[in-house]
Amino acid sequence: MQKKHSLSTGAIFFFGALGGLLFGFDTGIISGASPLIETNFSLSVAQTGFITSSVLIGSSVGALSIGPLSDKFGRKKLLILASILFLLGSGLSMVAGGFTSMVVARIVLGLAVGAASALTPAYLAELADADHRGSLGTMFQLMLTFGILMAYVSNLGFLGHNLLGVRDWRWMLGSALIPALLLFVGAILLPESPRFLVEKGKLDEAKATLHVLRKNIPDADPDKELEDIVEVSKQPKGGIKELFTFARPAVIVAVGIMFLQQLVGINSVIYFLPQVFIKAFKFPESNAIWISVFIGVVNFVCTIIAYKIMDRFDRKKILEFGSIIMAISIGILSVINFTMPVTVTAIPTIILIAIYIFGFAVSWGPIAWVLIGEIFPLNVRGIGSSIGSAANWIGNFIVSQFFLTLLASFNNNIGGPFAVFTVFAILSYFFVKYYVPETRGKSLEDIEMQMRHDHDEKES
Ligand code: BGC
Repeated sequence: MQKKHSLSTGAIFFFGALGGLLFGFDTGIISGASPLIETNFSLSVAQTGFITSSVLIGSSVGALSIGPLSDKFGRKKLLILASILFLLGSGLSMVAGGFTSMVVARIVLGLAVGAASALTPAYLAELADADHRGSLGTMFQLMLTFGILMAYVSNLGFLGHNLLGVRDWRWMLGSALIPALLLFVGAILLPESPRFLVEKGKLDEAKATLHVLRKNIPDADPDKELEDIVEVSKQPKGGIKELFTFARPAVIVAVGIMFLQQLVGINSVIYFLPQVFIKAFKFPESNAIWISVFIGVVNFVCTIIAYKIMDRFDRKKILEFGSIIMAISIGILSVINFTMPVTVTAIPTIILIAIYIFGFAVSWGPIAWVLIGEIFPLNVRGIGSSIGSAANWIGNFIVSQFFLTLLASFNNNIGGPFAVFTVFAILSYFFVKYYVPETRGKSLEDIEMQMRHDHDEKES
C-alpha cells in the first residue's frame, strides 16, 4: 500500500535535521547552567564536572547502540524513540532534586543526543538526491549550531530570573522541552527512509516516498533511482562482517574523521572559552556569557556559509581548506601567547579564535557528519554511522576531560593546549589528503559500488 505524506519536502528535511538542534542545545546549555546548579546543590567541582561530562558518556552509549537497531527497525521508529528520550531527559533535568537525579537525567539526555547524532546524518543522506546531499546533510550542523546559540541565549535570558518562583537554571534546562516536542511530532509525521524500505522489500512505499522527495527537482528520475537502490540491495550481505572486509576503508574514514574533528579542539572553545578568558586573561565573570554568545553567532553564521557552498566544491577541498585555516590561526595563537604578555594578546586571541571557528564551521563541522551518513554501504549504514558517531563522542569526552588540566599544566597559558590542537589540525590535512574518498555528486549507490569494486580489485 502506498502511503501519502502530509509534510512538504522542506518540512521533511527540517524535522529530519531537528535532532541536531537538541544535540547543540543540550551540550551547549550546561556551560551557563552548571555554576548555578553547583551552588544550588552545594556540589564539589568534581561533581559539577561529572554533570557536564555525564551527557558525553550517555551519548557514546546512545550512539553505539542505536545503529544496529536502526538497521533492523528503521530510521523513523528510532527517531521517535530518541525524541521520547529527549522529552524524558529534559523533563527530568528540569525537576532534578540533587546530584544523583541530575546525573541520571543527563545520561538519559546523552542517550538521546547520541542516538540523534548517529541516526540523523544517515537519515538525511538517504532522503537527499546526490546533487544536494552535501547541503541537505549540512542542515544537521546548521541546526546543531543554532541549538548551541539558542542555549547561550537561553542562559542569558533566564540568568537571575526565577520566573514563577522556579529557579533560573531549571528554566534553562527545561526550555529543551519545546524542540523535543517538535521533534516528537515531526518524527511521527516523517516518512521512513526509501533506502531502508527497499532493504525491507517495501518497494511501493519506497517509490511513493521518492516521488514526494523529488517532486521539486526538475531533472530527477525517482524511478531510475529506485532501480539503482534495488540493484544495490541485491548485493550479497555479509552483515557486520562487511565492516571488516570491503567496507573497512569506510570505517577508517569515519573513525579518523570523527576523532580528528574533536582533537582539533573545537569544544575547548564551545564549552570552555568563557572560563579560559576568566582564567587566562583575567576577564570579569560577567563578560563570560557575552563571549559565549559571540562564539555562538560566529559559529552559526559560518555554518550558513557552509550550507551555501557545500554542493559547489569537493568535500575534500573544503576539508583541506578548513584544516589549513585552523592550523594557521591556532598556530599563530599559540606562538603569540607563548611570546607576549596577556595584556597584549587578549584581543588578537579573540580574533584568531573567530578565524579558527570559521575554518571549522565551513568544513570539518558539517562535513564530518555528512560523510558518516554517506560512506557506508546500505545494509551496514546504521551501524557504520553509529561507530563514527561514537568515535566523535569519545573524542569529545577526551578533549573535555583533559582541556582544563592541560591548560593548568601550562600555567593557564592558552598557547599550550592550542599548540597540541595545532598538531592535530596539521594531521587532519594529511588524513583527508590520503584517506578520504571524494563523495560529492555521487549517489549513495555509486559510492557503495565503487567501494565493492576497489575491494574486489585488491583481492584479485
Ligand atoms: C561537533 C560538536 C561541536 C559542534 C560545534 C559539531 O560538528 O561534533 O562536538 O560542539 O560541531 O559547532
